Amino acid sequence: MTHGSAAMSLQYQSGFGNEFATEALPGALPVGRNSPQRAPYGLYAEQVSGTAFTAPRSCNRRSWLYRIRPAAGHGAFSALAHPRFHNDFGHGPVTPEQLRWSPLPMPAAPTDWLDGLFTMAGNGGPSAGGMGIHVYAANKDMDGRYFYDADGELLIVPQQGRLRIATELGVLEVEPQEIALIPRGLRFTVSLPDGEARGYVCENFGAMFKLPDLGPIGSNGLANPRDFLTPVAAYEDRDGDFELVAKFQGGLWRADIDHSPLDVVAWHGNYAPSKYDLRRFNTIGSISYDHPDPSIFLVLHSPSDSEGVSNIDFVIFPPRWLVAQDTFRPPWFHRNIASEFMGLVHGAYDAKAEGFVPGGASLHNSMSAHGPDAATFEKASNADLSKPDVIRDTMAFMFESRHVIRPAAQALDAGQRQADYLRCWQGLSRQFDPGVR
Ligand SMILES: [Fe+2]
Repeated sequence: MTHGSAAMSLQYQSGFGNEFATEALPGALPVGRNSPQRAPYGLYAEQVSGTAFTAPRSCNRRSWLYRIRPAAGHGAFSALAHPRFHNDFGHGPVTPEQLRWSPLPMPAAPTDWLDGLFTMAGNGGPSAGGMGIHVYAANKDMDGRYFYDADGELLIVPQQGRLRIATELGVLEVEPQEIALIPRGLRFTVSLPDGEARGYVCENFGAMFKLPDLGPIGSNGLANPRDFLTPVAAYEDRDGDFELVAKFQGGLWRADIDHSPLDVVAWHGNYAPSKYDLRRFNTIGSISYDHPDPSIFLVLHSPSDSEGVSNIDFVIFPPRWLVAQDTFRPPWFHRNIASEFMGLVHGAYDAKAEGFVPGGASLHNSMSAHGPDAATFEKASNADLSKPDVIRDTMAFMFESRHVIRPAAQALDAGQRQADYLRCWQGLSRQFDPGVR
């Protein structure tokens, strides 16, 4: 099966968390055992485990890799400075104020995807669960640089420009309105087919993302498993003076490596990268009255130890019909226990008339009040509900967490922070009149 752009001719396997099996050379995958005395073609066998060896089968994730050299073949690690990409979410007071940012500017100097990462916010840490939230703006390929994140699984949300992500387990290409999931520890390099790229990254320190249970929705709907695509095996047999960069306990480390670590000729297992086209989300909403809770838009979640309470919820607000009657149709005013970091990939978000633009972001922390701005309230309060309304050409998303999302100091100080965000609700004037029902 071939998906993706015709120019790249990339091949993918369909399904979420499947037991995949793929080989770039015929017979490279051993049959009947994982670690034969001599693997085919002189390859080394190596297991990569993303969950505890003894995790229950339903959530146990690991893959077997057959590679030209073992992953341990690299030089000594030394600390690598990257002051903009980290897990320092501060330890002191955190403002309950609603925050919003304009897009991260494109870099002036040549900057690859890794160097272009900028930490916005987060909670917890690599050993504690929670998440890091980063944005990126880049204009250069990671040529000869390979990266892995030992601290978390990466959910990458491109906003502008495609990413070609070559991983140990194969090559993915994602464009805006698609997402990529890169398992913790998997090595990869990013190139930019469009020359420039910008987007968002959720670094998941907790349990791996999974598809939500569907309850009364039934056996289909929301994100369907078959729409997740995992690459087929593809390897680089390439020597050179390369760099391996690791993110480990919040900091970056580098080592020399004299060959491409993307040298896996065959692999099998269920610990693998994938991509998903958000436009394939089966959006479900009210066909009678009232706007359902936004949990109806859940794509993936990282569960916590408390049932139904997520470490992270990844939620989208895609194009959809609004037909509810006797109802204020946009998202309602609310405060809630969860904390919400929002981004916009494309178009306009239906609760904000202006200010929240593609590439921008907002943060509404636990119990911080928010909702539609004054212009949206005015329009929706007077809308003709005898006609359905359709929201087209939009893709907003949310990284939501059970724990407060702490803005990084550099995000609070950033030039793209909108100091006047609160003003969007100031125009919501008093409408109350005890004499008019
Ligand atoms: Fe909200």
